[in-house]
Amino acid sequence: MMRKDTVCFNVFRFHPDNDKKPYFQKFEMPFTRKDLTVLEGLYYIQNRLDNSLAFRSSCRAGICGSCAMHINGKYRLACNTLVSKLKSNTVTIRPLAHMPILKDLFVDMKPFWEKYEHIKPYLMPGKSLPTTGERIQSPGERAKVDILIDCILCACCHSSCPVTASHEKYLGPMAFLNIDRFVSDTRDGAKAERLAIVNDEHGVWRCHTVFNCQEVCPKDLDPSGSIAHLKMEIVKNIN
Ligand code: F3S
Repeated sequence: MMRKDTVCFNVFRFHPDNDKKPYFQKFEMPFTRKDLTVLEGLYYIQNRLDNSLAFRSSCRAGICGSCAMHINGKYRLACNTLVSKLKSNTVTIRPLAHMPILKDLFVDMKPFWEKYEHIKPYLMPGKSLPTTGERIQSPGERAKVDILIDCILCACCHSSCPVTASHEKYLGPMAFLNIDRFVSDTRDGAKAERLAIVNDEHGVWRCHTVFNCQEVCPKDLDPSGSIAHLKMEIVKNIN
């Protein structure tokens, strides 16, 4: 029987070199502060109960996206998830999905970064813009980009998307949101090249409009809206 001033962390464990299969391990810890975060709980385990627990974190302020994981049924950032808000005295934690597990909650994000690299996430002059000099933007043009630039590349959307699970090469919601960020930017001149990247068999047409990506984004961004925008741009500019 759990005491009210304690909380149980039920944590996914797996060391591919030593374990035949993954398992969950329970850790009980004091729960005397209402502002205890899931990330602080993981550090409590690592510092006081089991220093072999592996997980990733960095800024602890919801900015770097490093501590994304599956917490009580949803992909979220451990650093800004309060245990008190989970309304359960058991916190069940799994690693991000669709990426190889290196150890416990620590995954190999190479497949995710490869997709980011593939979309060329930087301004390109293309054929229509000069390669030198300033590219002036009006406040209105800038506002269209402002709603897209906040992606912290945490991979919550990537992990929650069922199409990403079944099609390894599907570019996925993170890539689409970030392509839309450049397609919507008047300082970028490579729209045709970018639309061609998402207008193929692994691109936007494979999305099943499940909306998990929009639901889990810790920055309240809308990759599904970007997918709809990219489809419209493809129809207008390519076909
Ligand atoms: Fe996946 Fe989002 Fe489409 S969850 S299926 S990319 S709407």
